[in-house]
Amino acid sequence: MMKPINVGLLGIGTVGGGTWTVLTRNQEEIKRRAGRPISIVKVADKDVARAQQVTGGTVAVTDDAMSVVSDPDVDIVVELIGGTTLAKQLVLQAIENGKHVVTANKALLALHGNEIFAAAQKKGVIVAFEAAVAGGIPIIKAVREGLSANRIEWIAGIINGTTNFILTEMREKGLAFADVLQQAQKLGYAEADPTFDVEGIDAAHKLMILAAIAFGIPMQFDKVYTEGITRLTREDIGYAEQLGYRVKLLGITKRSENGVEMRVHPTLIPEKRLIANVNGAMNAVLVKGDAVGPTLFYGAGAGAEPTASAVIADLVDVTRMATADPHQRVPHLAFQPDQLSDLPILPISEVSSAYYLRLRAVDKPGVLADVTRILGDLAISIDAMVQKEPAEGETEADIVLLTHITLEKNIDCAIAGLEALASISGKIKRIRVEHLHG
Ligand code: NDP
Ligand code: HSE
Repeated sequence: MMKPINVGLLGIGTVGGGTWTVLTRNQEEIKRRAGRPISIVKVADKDVARAQQVTGGTVAVTDDAMSVVSDPDVDIVVELIGGTTLAKQLVLQAIENGKHVVTANKALLALHGNEIFAAAQKKGVIVAFEAAVAGGIPIIKAVREGLSANRIEWIAGIINGTTNFILTEMREKGLAFADVLQQAQKLGYAEADPTFDVEGIDAAHKLMILAAIAFGIPMQFDKVYTEGITRLTREDIGYAEQLGYRVKLLGITKRSENGVEMRVHPTLIPEKRLIANVNGAMNAVLVKGDAVGPTLFYGAGAGAEPTASAVIADLVDVTRMATADPHQRVPHLAFQPDQLSDLPILPISEVSSAYYLRLRAVDKPGVLADVTRILGDLAISIDAMVQKEPAEGETEADIVLLTHITLEKNIDCAIAGLEALASISGKIKRIRVEHLHG
């Protein structure tokens, strides 16, 4: 019988608790896969009493996470405390101490991944992060290994469970944003700071990781364009539906002639696409490779056991590869570390997309002619247009337009021109539209 591999668990909250439960419940099955038992020997959590309750007093519990990282009996450190300050110190110290690391911390990797992977490379240890993107969906393994024959063309994903849950509940049950957010927090989906979810920052962290492994580029989180769901209104969700679209918060990364697009924003998707029908806290990631074509990965994007599933898959991988020659292992970012590319990241003004525009216009002759002239002058063609009747007693009405694909800087110009018209009141609402053709 082979000696167990010893795990030090940092943080036994939602994901850490799930990891404890699943590892305990499925230990025999996991041992048969890994080739030796995987054993949590030490747990660190701020709340020692709760940690003791979860573990039933079967392992040592401390509130000093650094003591776990320095424990010579620990082979793998699992970082599940979150945040980017102490977590970074702990992960770098674990690496320095020659320990492998498993983490679900996408913020940490998107911001400090370059430094962390370089340190791991130098020390010959593994930093595994399947749980950091799309919860339980094995998307890191799929892109990094399963699709390694392909030139990846683009990835588009619903990669934040909290916002997908909020959008679904708002659309299906007409619930208010704040109530649904509270529910997502109770269910353990939301980040410690939920603005990370609703402002698209969490999805941007994950998108950065996906782009890095898809295109072999270093982390450069500050270049991801990020727009959340807080400014979405029920009217826009309703108009989108009338036009045959669903609104989802998408993370999109695309390779184009001039560089790489990386953007997170609310997006209209034709309702007939499978991904448009991914609801609740579920995630889905569409990956388009040149050889395989489009592939779609679907599953739970957050929550205790689904995320634990990914953490433990990493533990099994690390256990199998722990003693292998580091050169034989899968590179952290899919491409060999000396083969990373310096492809430029495109600013949002250089991104191409179709657009949904909602204008509030005075109901009088000539307005539509002005609108189409401004768009036409910028070579923006209209795909569909709906003009609503003004409400009883009102003189203004909504005009909703869908455009064909154009450059973002053209639509910026068009919006400025339209907002300057005397017949248009207030700000024009813009939502990007993606058809996600294979
Ligand atoms: P939780 O807040 O539920 O758990 C974190 C745990 O770590 C808490 O018990 C916390 O204690 C403890 N902790 C915090 N700081 C310290 C410290 N300095 N020393 C010891 N223990 C500490 O978070 P989650 O489990 O939800 O998230 C953990 C990580 O997983 C994050 O990086 C998150 O982004 C990521 N993640 C989360 C998913 C989810 O569905 N929840 C899915 C995928 C990734 P206390 O509560 O007392 O602060
Ligand atoms: N807060 C994240 C989400 C957790 O809602 O998707 C999973 O990474």
